[in-house]
Amino acid sequence: MSGISVKDLYKTYKGSAEPTLKGLTFQFGKGKIAGLLGPNGAGKTTTISILCGIVRGDSGEVIIHDLKQQAAHREEIKHIIGIVPQQIALYPQLSAVENLTYFGNLYGFKGKPLQQKIMHYLELFGLEKSAHKEIHKYSGGMKRRANIIAAILHNPKLLVLDEPTAGVDVQSRSMILQFLRDYNSQGASILYTSHLLEEAQSLCEEVVIMDAGKMIVQGNPQTLIHQHPDCNNLEDVFLHFTGNALRD
Ligand SMILES: Nc1ncnc2c1ncn2[C@@H]1O[C@H](COP(=O)(O)OP(=O)(O)OP(=O)(O)O)[C@@H](O)[C@H]1O
Ligand SMILES: [Mg+2]
Repeated sequence: MSGISVKDLYKTYKGSAEPTLKGLTFQFGKGKIAGLLGPNGAGKTTTISILCGIVRGDSGEVIIHDLKQQAAHREEIKHIIGIVPQQIALYPQLSAVENLTYFGNLYGFKGKPLQQKIMHYLELFGLEKSAHKEIHKYSGGMKRRANIIAAILHNPKLLVLDEPTAGVDVQSRSMILQFLRDYNSQGASILYTSHLLEEAQSLCEEVVIMDAGKMIVQGNPQTLIHQHPDCNNLEDVFLHFTGNALRD
């Protein structure tokens, strides 16, 4: 059973001469922790945005938990997926509780059950003491953790996170990674992107390395390392396939 299937996906942004996605193809199984890896500009955020229905691909097929990503399934897929975007998507002038109440309402949750759920997650993510503080007064790590809570209030079966550990301290990162493992052990699929390859190696059961809008290689991190005798870790595999040239 396919968790995520992307087949021959193409995308050119309006006004761009070059396509961002050029026949991207990969599959991740249901219930896995999967990593979408690639250099800056590879097309990771674009891919995630298409998977979640935020951006439209030009051609190709995307299947999410056995549902084709198309207008008829958009509402159903919206409830399956929780998206944690690369940029913090919270209202800076509102407190965490106000933000999370707003996002919970969007999914039809309200009243005491929603407030209990919000407090449960604020405690789990170590934010209970700052529950009523405005988001702009939060540290970077606190914002990242609150951003994750906004995506899980509706118990998504597939959690998609775009660089959830970028720029956070060791303590926040360790908390976030433990949460992802726990959430996955309850049966959810996880798809995440990161430039921290040591982290991806230890977290992910499957990874896709993409570059310039195409899939370069896919597999289990340990299997990929063993398949390439010159590689000691996932970072070596990544450099083996993507080279050392800067992307800008
Ligand atoms: N809204 C947009 N309009 C035009 N071009 C875009 C847009 N969004 C992204 N691009 C271009 O598409 C390419 C891929 O961008 P994308 O953000 O998907 O890459 P990424 O792999 O997520 O990179 P990063 O690791 O830096 O987050 C880049 O060349 C970028 O400039
Ligand atoms: Mg990105």
